[in-house]
Amino acid sequence: MVTPQDARQYAPATERNREPILEILLQVLPQSGTILEIASGTGEHAVFFASRFRDCQWLPTDVNLELRASIIAWTEHNVCDNVYAPLELDVREPVWAVEKEAVTQRLNLEPIVAIVNINMIHISPWSACLGLMAGAGRILTAGGILYLYGPFKQGGKHTAASNAAFDEYLRGQNQEWGVRNLDDVVAAARAEHFILKQIYQMPANNLSVVFERSADGPS
Ligand SMILES: C[S@@+](CC[C@H](N)C(=O)[O-])C[C@H]1O[C@@H](n2cnc3c(N)ncnc32)[C@H](O)[C@@H]1O
Repeated sequence: MVTPQDARQYAPATERNREPILEILLQVLPQSGTILEIASGTGEHAVFFASRFRDCQWLPTDVNLELRASIIAWTEHNVCDNVYAPLELDVREPVWAVEKEAVTQRLNLEPIVAIVNINMIHISPWSACLGLMAGAGRILTAGGILYLYGPFKQGGKHTAASNAAFDEYLRGQNQEWGVRNLDDVVAAARAEHFILKQIYQMPANNLSVVFERSADGPS
């Protein structure tokens, strides 16, 4: 008998980085409400983190159809009753799916209290980072958390030779991609009413960057 292959995809980095990321998420994310994950990729992170945030609802999203199929397959394989089916979401859209009443009513969503975005802003154009900040600013209310993970330049400089090589590789793939300068990301976040709360040094020269939505600006 031929066993049909399921749609699960594997990103080996997720197995390496998920424990260190979880350690930070447990410190910075609220313990109830909906966690919106932007650019969930394969869905391996979603099922892993959701199983550690049992009192939260985990809402994965991705722009890519095949990856959304992979997320569904992972949630079917690791049965998790606190993970929603993934939504199609391109951060550059002026209105995200989760802002549409028809969607929020259908999902019966608890308030979105945090947004998690891992390894996206360097593997997409700068407009994706700006879109992420704008959407997070529209969706999160005062005190809401925006968590980013990935490699960053600091003070305009790479922090490791491996990050410089990765940056060159990314730009070779797409001229609009590349390791972002942390100051630029912080400025983009500030423009959408986020305060930089904490930076954590992570393995393999990555950072966890945590922002909090301030009370000023539209709510
Ligand atoms: C390197 S993968 C990271 C996936 C996952 N977060 C992880 O750490 O394994 C980059 C992800 O960003 C997503 N992405 C790229 N551009 C995007 C956009 N404009 N809006 C939303 N997601 C986007 C891709 O589809 C892909 O899933």
